[in-house]
Amino acid sequence: MMQTVTREQALAGTLALVNPAHPLQARPAPEALVPAMPDAPGVLLARQAAVMLAALLDGIRAAGRIVPVSGWRSHAEQQALYADSVRDNGLEFTQKYVALPGCSEHETGLAIDVGEAREVIDFIRPAFPDTGVCAAFRRAAARYGFIERYPKGAQAVTGIGHEPWHFRYVGWPHAGLMAQRGVTLEEYIGALGAYTPEQPLHAEAGGRGFDIFRVPLGPEGARFDAPRDRVWQASADNCGGLVVTVWGAV
Ligand code: DAL
Ligand code: ZN
Repeated sequence: MMQTVTREQALAGTLALVNPAHPLQARPAPEALVPAMPDAPGVLLARQAAVMLAALLDGIRAAGRIVPVSGWRSHAEQQALYADSVRDNGLEFTQKYVALPGCSEHETGLAIDVGEAREVIDFIRPAFPDTGVCAAFRRAAARYGFIERYPKGAQAVTGIGHEPWHFRYVGWPHAGLMAQRGVTLEEYIGALGAYTPEQPLHAEAGGRGFDIFRVPLGPEGARFDAPRDRVWQASADNCGGLVVTVWGAV
């Protein structure tokens, strides 16, 4: 059955690849942003990301031990952060740990920097070790739709240094599939470009099958064929395409 997704609906999805080659095209509406946690009203996230972050922290009983440090940033905030960091830390450090304004995932509302609760927390590089509750967060993240966006050894691909504190909400099953395959968002979105409605990627995550494919996304949106009896979701990839994910049987 032919389905239509408007451009606006597509841009509200969670799979946008944002980096210097793919600057942000759509900013979240203010009403789409909510506090990342009730006790951190100044840190905002897109609603779905906030709900799943709360579920993740609850799932590993991390309340009070892990704190949200930085979530959504306006373009002006990212510009100020970048400029202040160049002044205080130099260009080399800044290019490694602060995305160019307009190319930061933080402007989407889908990225969260988390820190181990400590008296002093670094805003650009919060401590988030691979031990204790932080390691438990990292292990559980994919189940709740989050990926560690800038892994160690991937700077040549992502353009950003190792950021063990920066998690990006992409949703399920994509976070699970990326963790399974050990790939970055750049590699994952790039690979999905090869799959069409006629020849989708068939993947399994959490005991369920998924068919995933990409179609071009134009100014009017996108049209594609999806079975009437299956649940599907769709998201712009910020690279000119719409990724469609069709959920299979349990
Ligand atoms: N720290 C990440 C790369 C950002 O500024 O978006
Ligand atoms: Zn970050």
